[in-house]
Amino acid sequence: MATYTTPERSTNNATGIDNSRKDRYWISSAATIITFTVFVIYSTIRAFMGKFFSTYYDGHHFTWLASTLTSPGAIRPHYWSPFYSPYLGSILHYHIGNWPISASLYVLIFPLSFRLSCYYCRRAYYRAVFQDPGACAVKELFARRGYSGETKMPSKLFNFHRYALYAAIILVIFHWWHLYNAFFYTQNGSTHFGAGLGTLIFLVDTLALTAYTFSCHSFRHLIGGVINRFSTSRTRHGLWTRVTAMNNWHAQFFWISLTTVLTADLYVYLVSSGAVTDIRFF
Ligand code: FES
Repeated sequence: MATYTTPERSTNNATGIDNSRKDRYWISSAATIITFTVFVIYSTIRAFMGKFFSTYYDGHHFTWLASTLTSPGAIRPHYWSPFYSPYLGSILHYHIGNWPISASLYVLIFPLSFRLSCYYCRRAYYRAVFQDPGACAVKELFARRGYSGETKMPSKLFNFHRYALYAAIILVIFHWWHLYNAFFYTQNGSTHFGAGLGTLIFLVDTLALTAYTFSCHSFRHLIGGVINRFSTSRTRHGLWTRVTAMNNWHAQFFWISLTTVLTADLYVYLVSSGAVTDIRFF
């Protein structure tokens, strides 16, 4: 007959939290905190650049300024920062002039609410930031009484995730639109077809964001939920099966898309500010 031995409890780890694990599970928490911190600091700085340095939010426009100042025949790639897409805020800035709110703030609220309410992301920051718990088989840092799931505030707000998904799908459409534009550039007043390093970065970012968005748990419910039997809808079952396969990679898509969107924005910023010259492939 099989016997079960209770694992020995230990506090002999870097966090000092009572648990039965002796491996370095806290490394993933530390990596999560560092990555989130870098992203929050970077996105906050970039979000307010549109307010304090009006030309920095608009890669296309500022590239035009930079190239005009340096060389009249310079190539002006049609790149648009994902932090300032869709154009709504930028259009207000363009037509109203000194609009007091950064153009990026209208935009970032949507991907931010989508990511913060993401089922995977919540697990990541519950574990890393709140140690709630730090990992499987690790005691919670702050013991809570009466866990109520998402039935009470503030956790109830996470039920909005399905609506944040609809906004994210619109963002994905704009990403594809910007990718299309990235295949063009302006030189000496006329527009040409071509691609540069920015186009490649946009391509990877758009694919990553698409994979992240359409592997979402809420999207899987949208595709395959609400019906009692899949036998009544083979199409939906086929779609649900594919989304489920993608959903297995949702955590990876989360981190990849977070990295690529930051890379895409940073590249647009560097090109538009004249710090680097876009590498052209053709
Ligand atoms: Fe992660 Fe929906 S569950 S984006």
